[in-house]
This record gives sequence, structure tokens and C-alpha cells, in this order.
Amino acid sequence: MLPSGLPMLALGTIITAVAVSVALAAPESAATGRLRCRCLPTQPCWPNSDTWAALGQDVGGRLIPTKPAAYECHNPNYDSAKCDAIKAGYHYDYWRQQQPGAVQQTNWEVFQGKGCLDFNQTDVCHQGAVPLYTVNATNFEDVQKTVRFAAKHNVRLVVKNTGHDYLGRSIGAYSLNLWVFYMKKIEFNDNFVPEGAPAGTESKGAVILGSGAIWRDVFKAADDHNVFVLGGADPTVGTSGGFCQGGGHHALSTKVGLCVDNVLQYKIVTADGELKVANAYQNKDLFWALRGGGGGTFGVVVEATYKTHPAFKNIVYATSYILYNITDPTVTRQKVINKFLSYQHEWSNNGWSGYAFIQQNSMAAVYYLPDQDVATATKQYQPFLDYANSVGAKAFGNLTSYSSFYDLFSATALTTGTRNAGVQVVLGSRLIPRSTFAAQTKVNKLSEAFMNIQDDLYDFGNPEGTILTHLVAGGQVAKGTTAETSVLPAWRRALMHVVLVASWLTETPPAEQQLVQRKLTQSTDRLRKLTPGSGAYVNEADPNEPDWKGAFFGANYKRLKSIKDQVDPHGLFACHNCVGSDDWNKDLLCPRRR
Ligand SMILES: *[C@@H]1O[C@H](CO)[C@@H](O)[C@H](O)[C@H]1NC(C)=O
Ligand SMILES: *[C@@H]1O[C@H](CO)[C@@H](O)[C@H](O)[C@H]1NC(C)=O
Ligand SMILES: *[C@@H]1O[C@H](CO)[C@@H](O)[C@H](O)[C@H]1NC(C)=O
Ligand SMILES: *[C@@H]1O[C@H](CO)[C@@H](O)[C@H](O)[C@H]1NC(C)=O
Repeated sequence: MLPSGLPMLALGTIITAVAVSVALAAPESAATGRLRCRCLPTQPCWPNSDTWAALGQDVGGRLIPTKPAAYECHNPNYDSAKCDAIKAGYHYDYWRQQQPGAVQQTNWEVFQGKGCLDFNQTDVCHQGAVPLYTVNATNFEDVQKTVRFAAKHNVRLVVKNTGHDYLGRSIGAYSLNLWVFYMKKIEFNDNFVPEGAPAGTESKGAVILGSGAIWRDVFKAADDHNVFVLGGADPTVGTSGGFCQGGGHHALSTKVGLCVDNVLQYKIVTADGELKVANAYQNKDLFWALRGGGGGTFGVVVEATYKTHPAFKNIVYATSYILYNITDPTVTRQKVINKFLSYQHEWSNNGWSGYAFIQQNSMAAVYYLPDQDVATATKQYQPFLDYANSVGAKAFGNLTSYSSFYDLFSATALTTGTRNAGVQVVLGSRLIPRSTFAAQTKVNKLSEAFMNIQDDLYDFGNPEGTILTHLVAGGQVAKGTTAETSVLPAWRRALMHVVLVASWLTETPPAEQQLVQRKLTQSTDRLRKLTPGSGAYVNEADPNEPDWKGAFFGANYKRLKSIKDQVDPHGLFACHNCVGSDDWNKDLLCPRRR
């Protein structure tokens, strides 16, 4: 998503609606035969308090009975001092990631319409989808013990890092939460050789990261070490969890590839409780699956090793803000959006990448041009702003050169005080191929789709018409292959990822929440229809994506599923729209009957 320094909307609205059932070929039933319904707290199989206490001792007292984050703001648990502290943190990502019972978007904390959101004291607090217990893991053994406990007692297990996830994969009702946020290792090795590599294998510069290290801290450490590490635009996202396992993009991916293209090695605890090393020399299938097959699916990554790159010496950063002609917004909007999309192909060829935030009345963009000077960048970028002014919009632009990635990052993405979390949001999205941008007739259709989407969603959770565009593919991203990583192949042909947003408020009636979601999914069809054979980035995607297997994993799904069945035959790791999840019912508590 966008760096939080941009003007962020007060986003507010989504939940998981009807899971789309996808007809499966016959061999799948073999897998479901191995799966059992999870044990629930109301059943005799549920571990008794002594058994939980023993787990607590086993993990050094790090087992936390878990309540929803706003628990003390609701009767009968209301506590005014505690509630004040909750209110102060509730909408901030940094606060939410420190709560065992919270994720970033609160729609995922609701289960079967019940939850414990916001601060209405008389509104009853339900556990919802919040796990019943959390292990606050700090080392590999904590993770292994927790995995073995969940497997042995048939308790649903969820894996949570920072709680950033638009598919709700890191939370679940009646579960034990394996929380890896405090595994914070950040260690550089300028001569890294993967474990098990043959003698004489060339070493590479690398950074070794614990699961819970976040990009803010890794970018700082990389700057101190005078290297660049490819990470996320959002400083609070975890480095080694779903971000990278699902692909991992950044504006500078165009220079050094997606996150998956930068992985040298994983350490992972699999469903059998074993600690495994996966790299180009051992557990190769697992290594491939972990680079694109999605988080929370193949095991618990406890350590990831990524390539380091020489630090960028110069990056031009172009910010622009364009206000459409107020008296004739539709025409100006149409012209500005069309011209903006028309420029993407040329800008990409010239080395640009970046993000834009397109709304009904204005648009804002932040674009990057590494290894160039401001004069060159201005020559390429200014004509767009001039065009916007010439058609009656008011365009403001600023091109500034930064001498390092970290200078740019800390000046633009580390602004504090952005209330950007603790809301109910769903996304719709699509990867738009390079070929779309290469032909003006196709650009015209795409800009028409943008206009129609803004109109579609006006009454359905997106009154500002917010569409986010991520020009993060092309360049080095286009060079990766399916032989190397399992990331959705459409990434390699894409130039831009487009994200639509819809949101609602806690008091929005459930039927309306579902309607908003349906409208979003339908409206995203305008992009699907223009881009047959493409897909969507699994980490910024519609939880109700039709044909999610094809859209998120493409032709790789089959091989991913066979690896999944090998490393996790009993389906310990099950999450929404994850590889193998359609072996399960929508609530992921029982295998699906066929
Ligand atoms: C608070 O919750 C109660 C119980 O659900 C409801 O009747 C009331 O309307 C809510 N108040 C507000 C301000 O939303
Ligand atoms: C989790 O563990 C970390 C590291 O020991 C500690 O700082 C943090 O307070 C713990 N969180 C909770 C909620 O117990
Ligand atoms: C804005 O739109 C109005 C209505 O079409 C038009 O009369 C006016 O000239 C436009 N303003 C600019 C600055 O182009
Ligand atoms: C452009 O941005 C830089 C960096 O934020 C700032 O110092 C400068 O004042 C801005 N220039 C204009 C004309 O706004």
C-alpha cells in the first residue's frame, strides 16, 4: 500500500462474505480424508486448564489468555483508565501490532457477525474471531512447542506477525495464536552462503531477519550498514511473514525485483514441529513454495535471509497533487486520469515507479526515479503537470533529490500520528499488464473503467472514489521466472497493480456490509474484463475474489497444492484463500464435505 505519509483517507468499511466455492477435481478428496474438525472449547477434546498451564510453562510463561483489544471499553469489563489508553492507540498501526488480540483491520476480528469493536460501553463485547490464547514467541523452540501442541490437541492454529493482512489470514475464531512479532533479529552477513551449498559456492551480501522485524527497523539498520534491502512501503509491515511469502512489492522493485526475488534462505517450523532450512540446495520445493505461495500456509517462517544491494546514491522523488476543475470535475478528471495512465509506459521505460491515490475530485502521486538528477526527472514528469493545468485542473508538483533511500524513506514514510488502522476495510485489485499501457486504445478503456468504478462505488463504501495505483512492476520484476519462484506469473507481465477500496463503520448493518462487499467485487470486474489471464496480488486483494486460486496463484496453484499436501498433510495451517483452504469450510473449522 501507500507510504503512510500520503494524505490517507479515513478508511472505514469490509468482512468476509460468501466464500466462493470452486469446483475441484477428484484427487482432492484424498486430502480431505486426512482432515478433522478442529477441537472447540465446548468439546471434551479441548485441552483443560492444566494442559494450557503446562504449555504456558513450556514456553517460559509466554502464554497469554487473549481478549479483544477493546475489551475494557465494554461492559461489564469497562475500566475507564484502561479504556482511555485503548482509545488513544486503537487507530494506530504501531499500537495494534503490540496487542495479542488485534489485527490492523477490525473487520477480521468479527466472527459470525459478532465482535468487540470500538468504544460503545453498552455494546456487549464478544470474542469474535480473536484467538483464545496467544504464545508470545521469542525463539525457535517457543514456535516448535506451540506447533506441536496445536497439532497434538487438534486446536486451530493461526500465525500472526504485525496483523497487516487484507485477507484476514492471521486471525481466527477458537484458535491458538502463534505470535512471532517479538522475534526481532536483524543481522548482516556480507559473505552469506546458504546452508548446505557445495564448497566454493559464491557468497552474497545478506541480511538475516527474525519473523517479527519490521521494515522501519530493517531500513534503518541497512542504512547504517550502507546497503539497500528491498522491503515494503509501509514501515510497520513485518519483513518475513506474508509480505514476502506472497510476493512483496516496493517502488524500487523495478530495480531489484520483488521481495521473493531477493530471498536466499528460510528457516521454517513445519507442521511436524521440525525446524527446516529451505534454500536453493535443500528443501527446494518448500523454498519455491515459500516465495509466492502465501503466508501462513506451509509452516511458520522463523528466520528469512534476504539479499542486500549497494545503497542507492540518488533518488528523485516527485510528489504531485492535482485538483480537478471544480466547476467541471467529470471532464477534467477524465482527461487527467487518461493522461496519467498514458504516461505510465514511457515513465516506466525511463525508470520511474511510484504510487498514486486517485479520487473523484483530486489525485495525489508520489513517484521515484533512482539514479537520475532533478533536471532529467523534471523534463520527463513536468509535461504531465502542464497538461493537467492546461485542461483546467490545478497541479502542484515538487521534485526533490534524496541522497539515499533511507533519507527519502525517513522524510516521507515515517511521519507519525497517522490514524491509519483499526477500521473496517476491504480491497479489490488487479494486476494490469504492460501491454495495456502500450496501446492508447487500451489506456482509454482502462481510464474509462476507473471513471465507472468511482461512480459504482460512490454509494458503496467509497464516496471519495479512491483508487490506488502502484507502478511497481516492470524493470527487474519482469525478469523473474516461474522456475525460480512461485509468485503469480502475471506479476512478470504486469506494470501496475490497481487497488480499489471500500469500507464501512461498526454500526453499519450486516446486510449493508455484505452489499458493499458485493459491489466492490462486481466493480472490480471492470478491471478483470480488460485483463484476461492476469490476476491480483494476493496481499492486497479482494477476500471474495472469484476464482481466487487462478487470480492469486495462476498456473502455480497445482504444484503449490501438492507441496502443501506433503509438508502439511493434516492441514494444521489453514487460512482464508490460502493454498489448500478450499479443503475446509468457510469458517476453516471443519473439512468441507463433498
Ligand atoms: C451502543 O450499543 C447499544 C447496544 O448495542 C446500542 O443500542 C446503541 O445504539 C449504541 N450507541 C451508539 C451511540 O451507537
Ligand atoms: C511479548 O514479549 C515481548 C518480549 O519479551 C514483551 O516486550 C511484550 O510486552 C510481550 N507482550 C505481551 C502482550 O505480553
Ligand atoms: C472549468 O470548467 C468550466 C465549465 O466547463 C469552464 O467554463 C472553465 O473554463 C473551466 N476552467 C478552466 C480553468 O479550464
Ligand atoms: C519540495 O520538497 C522539499 C522536500 O520536502 C521541500 O524542502 C521544498 O520546500 C519543497 N519545495 C516546494 C516549492 O514546495
